[in-house]
Amino acid sequence: MGTLQRDLMVVGGTVVTETWTGPATVAIRDGVVAAVLGPTESPPDFSQSIPVLDATGSLVLPGGVDPHTHIGMELGDYTTRDGYHEATAAALWGGTTTVIDFAIPQPGQTPLEAVRQRQKAAMDGLCDAALHGCVVSWDNDVPRQLAAMADLGVRTVKLFTTYRDVVMASTDTIARVMEAMRELDGLVYVHAEANHIVERDQARAASTGHIDAAGHAQTRSELSELAAVRQVLDTAKAVDVAVYFVHQSTPEAIDEVRRARQTGLRAYTETCPHYLTLDDTMYSDEFPELYVCCPPLRARATVDAVVNRAMSGQVEAIGSDHCCYDTGQKRADRADVRVMSNGLPGIETRLPVTFTELVKHRGLNIERLVAMLASNPARLNGLYPHKGTIAPGSDADLVLINPEVERVASPETLHMATDYTPYQARTLSGWPHTVVQRGSVILEEGQLRTERCEARIIGSERIPNQSLSC
Ligand code: URP
Ligand code: ZN
Ligand code: ZN
Repeated sequence: MGTLQRDLMVVGGTVVTETWTGPATVAIRDGVVAAVLGPTESPPDFSQSIPVLDATGSLVLPGGVDPHTHIGMELGDYTTRDGYHEATAAALWGGTTTVIDFAIPQPGQTPLEAVRQRQKAAMDGLCDAALHGCVVSWDNDVPRQLAAMADLGVRTVKLFTTYRDVVMASTDTIARVMEAMRELDGLVYVHAEANHIVERDQARAASTGHIDAAGHAQTRSELSELAAVRQVLDTAKAVDVAVYFVHQSTPEAIDEVRRARQTGLRAYTETCPHYLTLDDTMYSDEFPELYVCCPPLRARATVDAVVNRAMSGQVEAIGSDHCCYDTGQKRADRADVRVMSNGLPGIETRLPVTFTELVKHRGLNIERLVAMLASNPARLNGLYPHKGTIAPGSDADLVLINPEVERVASPETLHMATDYTPYQARTLSGWPHTVVQRGSVILEEGQLRTERCEARIIGSERIPNQSLSC
């Protein structure tokens, strides 16, 4: 570890941050950005023998920060196929250098125990990792545990309004956790779908014989998402706590969050690559189960409206919601969406899918994409400016892409521990060809150099009340 080369000059590339794009040299000393220099400037006090990485023709982006991953997740009857080693390798191949995973307590486990267990698991990782806690039910010891979690650097806590008898939190638990997190200067992550509406629609689907994967979209309506978002926002307003809605899939839900933010609430929207690209026609496909996720994929008009909001600065973050199930697991219970595995693999495809869809096809300024993939997730999770930017003092996590190079997505060329991708046969650009982790070139020339890895488990001091780049 100590012998890793972590001084580097990255020359000839076009550096992109959330606020600036231009030709620049990135001078790295001891794994940290020492200076971002004009292309003809020479760095002060660097020896002549420092290694040089030629980035000519490439965009040099801050390492991606994925704010929503499920690595080796046990939920319901299924456990996803990957562990930290596989998932973080795939993350690096996809330009993510920091993952933020969930410590979801198993039955009988406390939130704090879940965090400790996940921190041990994360030591197998090849990229940096931070954690969100999760509370399923309230008891009088939860405040002490949340404070202990904050001491461990975990200041974001997830609550689910759905998945009854698995991880669903009651409205009372939600309010109490919000109060505790406000005292800790934390952020509450919420999966918002109104369970009473979902269960009613599921019961109706079951009675008409449409509870299989093909009927999934009808069992988790847009209304169920909107209803839960409204209720959670009202509670967050009453408590005055920062709240972050994961995987928003409808324009109405996103608009609710924006309106709340305009009234002064710290409320934020995350969406996912699949809600920006795939639509509910996938449920008419031969293998609808491969696209079953919660919330479900929506109608094309809804997808386009979510894209418009991402284009116009109403989406703060894009998370993968990576769930590495394979086709066998997805197939097993496809006859009943109430028990089958939910979620899509995507830790590796977050950058290429969104670069292709938003920047290449729709003309989004790439600085905006950097904000959603790196800077804002880093800020909201208390990791900025170490993560999420390229500036003096930030960790030298860099991702180099050649925007002209295209590759077809397929499980054979991807590195996730599964045998399918929801983006099968799509031609995508924005694939990283080189990744620098704290000054060490960990991915280059088609090889992941694991011996150069210096991954860490990181945490946040506080979730600062900063303005975001939108
Ligand atoms: O379908 C999904 N998203 N499964 C993973 C768990 C969650 O709800 O985030
Ligand atoms: Zn969720
Ligand atoms: Zn999730």
